[in-house]
Amino acid sequence: MMRLRLRSHRIFSVALFWIGVVPSIAQPRQSAPDSACANCHAAQAATQPKTPMGRALELSGNDPTLRDHPKLTFHKDAYTYTVETHDDKSTYSVTDGVHTVSLPIRWNFGYGAQTWFLERDGEYYESMVSYYPAIDSLAVTTGDETLKPSTLNDAVGRKLQKHEPKDCFGCHASNTVAGGKLNLESLQPGVTCEHCHVGSSAHLVDASQGEYGSSPPDLRKLSSEAISNFCGQCHRTWDTVVRSRWRGEINVRFQPYRLANSKCFDGTDPRISCIACHDSHKDIVRQDSTYDGKCLACHSASTHAPATASTSAESCPIAKSNCVSCHMPKVKLPNGLMTFTDHQIRIVKAGEPYPN
Ligand code: HEC
Ligand code: HEC
Ligand code: HEC
Ligand code: HEC
Ligand code: HEC
Ligand code: HEC
Ligand code: HEC
Repeated sequence: MMRLRLRSHRIFSVALFWIGVVPSIAQPRQSAPDSACANCHAAQAATQPKTPMGRALELSGNDPTLRDHPKLTFHKDAYTYTVETHDDKSTYSVTDGVHTVSLPIRWNFGYGAQTWFLERDGEYYESMVSYYPAIDSLAVTTGDETLKPSTLNDAVGRKLQKHEPKDCFGCHASNTVAGGKLNLESLQPGVTCEHCHVGSSAHLVDASQGEYGSSPPDLRKLSSEAISNFCGQCHRTWDTVVRSRWRGEINVRFQPYRLANSKCFDGTDPRISCIACHDSHKDIVRQDSTYDGKCLACHSASTHAPATASTSAESCPIAKSNCVSCHMPKVKLPNGLMTFTDHQIRIVKAGEPYPN
């Protein structure tokens, strides 16, 4: 009896903790501007808003990509697409040579590759074409390759299903939902402090008066599995990928899924947590050798070292550095326009099919 009660109590408190830390995408948030945190958390406030996550959405007029590319064009079947920027205003146009549809661009999704979120007659559309840095020009939006528009109206883009606008803004921006509805008036572009640190606005007010009882939960206390689910709210969880049956190379972009499928992953070991390798407040590090220490926290560096409790996993018979260059290969999406890093850490064999 006693044990049972203890166990259910534990489950209950874990659930409560989760309600506290999960950035509830579907709930309204009273967000303070990130700069308000700078007095006390200078390091995070100085860098996080400039990261790709902090800039996962830009409002029109504030977008360096479009400013640097005042005119972009693309032809597909019978249609010609043009994205033009003058005086910090951007317009997305599609023409079949006779008629033209022109829409203002107000929301730019994506920091690198970029898709435009369009509004027409009260309906929302994802632009049919997107900008890709890999080719420095426009191409068909990822996932929309098989669409075959037969009218100019359809050629504008994919009409979003009812739930989608809220989802898109929920992952790419902050403070976009009020009373369960999409509210673009209160939108803050990108992933802000409050989005990950739920409750930090109340903490801001309290902290300014010297009270710290309401500090947001310390995310470092979450297990590696819980962190995967936390980041997975946007980067997609193992569960979501399995349930959605996203198979093949397209799932390389869902790091929580790929990592969980790796032999290295242990849901309770902090050395393989997302935050062991990534600092959410800084730009991602793109230098292979930086990650060696992360691998060597578990894998013995020397083939002759006896296994110890701390570095008990096998060592590499091939090399002693740049581990990720061989064991976390880069994989292109089927459209060839974007490359991701396979988080299913493994021995890669030449010619083997993509492991799922
Ligand atoms: C609220 C949604 C959200 C959450 C939560 C989130 N991310 Fe992201 N993250 C994004 C989006 C959106 C992008 C894409 C930004 C872009 O390129 O447009 C991104 C991009 C990234 C990048 C790539 C940066 C680059 O330089 O290309 C890393 C690394 C990353 N996230 C790590 C994490 C980690 C680690 C966590 C958990 C601690 C996390 N993210 C939680 C939404 C989120
Ligand atoms: C569940 C969260 C989530 C939703 C919903 C979501 N995104 Fe994203 N999006 C991300 C993350 C995370 C990335 C970072 C790239 C990655 O790892 O896939 C991203 C990347 C992007 C990019 C950069 C190019 C690319 O494909 O990587 C664009 C553009 C984009 N999203 C647009 C949209 C649009 C438009 C919608 C709605 C139709 C949307 N996203 C819905 C999380 C989300
Ligand atoms: C994408 C999610 C995400 C965003 C956005 C984010 N954080 Fe964090 N933050 C984390 C995670 C995960 C941790 C725990 C791991 C770590 O310390 O990096 C953390 C830790 C912290 C800590 C404790 C770190 C320490 O060393 O004491 C502070 C303070 C903090 N964040 C402040 C901020 C501020 C201020 C912003 C906005 C400018 C912000 N965070 C934006 C995810 C995020
Ligand atoms: C007046 C100073 C002050 C301001 C302003 C402030 N904080 Fe804090 N914050 C603190 C202090 C001090 C702590 C540590 C309190 C404790 O030990 O619980 C803390 C704790 C935190 C933590 C938990 C850190 C951890 O992992 O243990 C996070 C996250 C955080 N603050 C985020 C924010 C964000 C986001 C903002 C802006 C919205 C903000 N803070 C504004 C002083 C401040
Ligand atoms: C053992 C270290 C390690 C762990 C753990 C790890 N990553 Fe990564 N991650 C990397 C490396 C290495 C890269 C590639 C960096 C580069 O481009 O050079 C990367 C790249 C990324 C990117 C950029 C897009 C891409 O795929 O190239 C995102 C987003 C990301 N990681 C998210 C996550 C999330 C979310 C988790 C937790 C589920 C996680 N990572 C766990 C090492 C790690
Ligand atoms: C939390 C500890 C931990 C971390 C961190 C870790 N690994 Fe592992 N890894 C393991 C364990 C445990 C195994 C499976 C048993 C073994 O090989 O000893 C494994 C297996 C492997 C394998 C063999 C996989 C196979 O297909 O047979 C490779 C290769 C590997 N790890 C490389 C890496 C690299 C590279 C990194 C850093 C990017 C890394 N590991 C980070 C614990 C870890
Ligand atoms: C030049 C590519 C390359 C680099 C760099 C590299 N490895 Fe390997 N690694 C391999 C290959 C190939 C194998 C498979 C060897 C075999 O099976 O004969 C392997 C095997 C392994 C194994 C499995 C060993 C076993 O007996 O099961 C682990 C663990 C591993 N590497 C970890 C690492 C770590 C950690 C690093 C960085 C310190 C690293 N590797 C750097 C290519 C590399």
